[in-house]
Amino acid sequence: MKAISGKNLVLIGFMGTGKTETGKLLAASLNRRFIDTDKLIEKEEKAKISEIFAAQGEEYFRRREKEVIARLCRKKGLVISTGGGSLLARENRKLLAENSFVIWLDASFDELRQRLTGDVDRPLLKEQDFSTLYEKRLEGYRETAHVKIDTTDKSPLMVSEEIMELLRRG
Ligand code: S3P
Repeated sequence: MKAISGKNLVLIGFMGTGKTETGKLLAASLNRRFIDTDKLIEKEEKAKISEIFAAQGEEYFRRREKEVIARLCRKKGLVISTGGGSLLARENRKLLAENSFVIWLDASFDELRQRLTGDVDRPLLKEQDFSTLYEKRLEGYRETAHVKIDTTDKSPLMVSEEIMELLRRG
């Protein structure tokens, strides 16, 4: 477990890559606290992400996301799952890459499309073309990740076991 000793383990990646479910399983296996940045913002704002986007706009949400990430980066030993757009901000890329062990969960385009079809909780999916959104986020994932895992055809349990194996091997 050298790769993460004393560090936060952070999951990044596009919507639908399973960051939250995988993060919960990983935290349980590692006996660590799990924090999902979207859920934390929802709790603090007492509103759902879609409501925050509708009432205060994306810019406000991105500000809250930055605050939360900066706060969590001052802590240690957490498993954190991040929102798919959080790495649009360079500050977040830098902070996470420097402070944490960052794992990028990816999946094939077709599978992501399938997983996200009919989703009503992700406001940006309604407004923007799926592939445009994905392309915009790629650079942030590439720049920040220490490791990339393909989750295509894998359950969150399979992905978390794969990550545990990777951590064991150091
Ligand atoms: C977003 C991804 C979402 C959430 C918000 C915006 C994005 O997180 O933060 O809807 O810009 O890609 P998930 O990746 O957890 O769905």
